[in-house]
Amino acid sequence: MVNGEDFKVFAEYYDKFYLERKDYKKEAKIVKKIIEELESKKTLTLLDVGCGTGEHLKYLSSDFRCKGLDINNRMIEIAKSKVPEAKFKIANMIDFRFKDRFDVIICLFGSIGYVQNFPNLKKTIKNYYRHLNDSGLVIVEPWVFKKDFKKGHMSLDTYVDDELKFVRMARSRISTSTWLIFMHYLVGKNQRIEYFTEVHKMLAVNNSDYVKALKLSRFKDIGYLTENLWDSCRGLFVARK
Ligand SMILES: C[S@@+](CC[C@H](N)C(=O)[O-])C[C@H]1O[C@@H](n2cnc3c(N)ncnc32)[C@H](O)[C@@H]1O
Repeated sequence: MVNGEDFKVFAEYYDKFYLERKDYKKEAKIVKKIIEELESKKTLTLLDVGCGTGEHLKYLSSDFRCKGLDINNRMIEIAKSKVPEAKFKIANMIDFRFKDRFDVIICLFGSIGYVQNFPNLKKTIKNYYRHLNDSGLVIVEPWVFKKDFKKGHMSLDTYVDDELKFVRMARSRISTSTWLIFMHYLVGKNQRIEYFTEVHKMLAVNNSDYVKALKLSRFKDIGYLTENLWDSCRGLFVARK
C-alpha cells in the first residue's frame, strides 16, 4: 500500500543528510533551463510532486508560481517553513485531485519510484496529464532502472555534526515488480543512540516502461535527457501534454 510511511523517521534528518550530498541550487538551475528552452510563456505555474522538504522549490519559487505536494506531513511542514511564498498540500501523487492546472509538473529525485508498481505508475502519469494546462510540460527524474539493480549491494552512509551522529545502512531486493529497500538507521543525539528501520517500496521498471506510461496517457514529444541532476545516472523524462 502507498501510504507515506517510507519516510516516517528519515523525514526529520533528510535535510542534514542530503544538503551535504546534493546541490539543489544547481539542480533547480538545470530544471529552469530545460523549462525555459521549451516554454516561451512568461509567468508559469509549477507543481513539484513529491517535493519533500522543498529544496528545489526554494530555488524555483522566484521564477515560477509554485505549489508542492507530498504524502508525508513532516516533509510538508519543513517545506512550508522554508518556502513560505509557495503553496503546499499533503496528497498522494497517484490519485490527488486539485482544482488548479499547471504549466509545468516536476517530480524529482526518484519520488515517482514510490508508487511501487507499473499500474500505479500509469495512474500517476495520467494524473499529471490531468493536472497540466494544454501543452504543459512534465519533467520526471525516474527511480533507478530495474536493469541497474545491483544484487547483494549494501550501502553505508553517515552524517556527523556536534549534536547528531547518523548512520544509514541499506540493502535491497526485488520482489516480483517491487524494489524493496530495507533501511536501518542509528541516530545518536542527546546522549542516546536509537535504532530505526524503514522499508522503502519502489518501482522496479525500466526506461521503456516510463515511456509506455507517458504514451498511454497521450503525452507528446516524449524525450529522455541523459543529463543527470545528481550523480545517480537517472536522466530526466520530459514530455508535453
Ligand atoms: C527521495 S524523496 C525526494 C524529495 C525531493 N523531491 C527531493 O528532491 O529532495 C521522495 C519524496 O516522495 C514522497 N512520496 C513518496 N510517495 C509519495 C506519494 N505517493 N505521493 C506523494 N509523495 C510521495 C516522500 O514523502 C518523499 O518526500
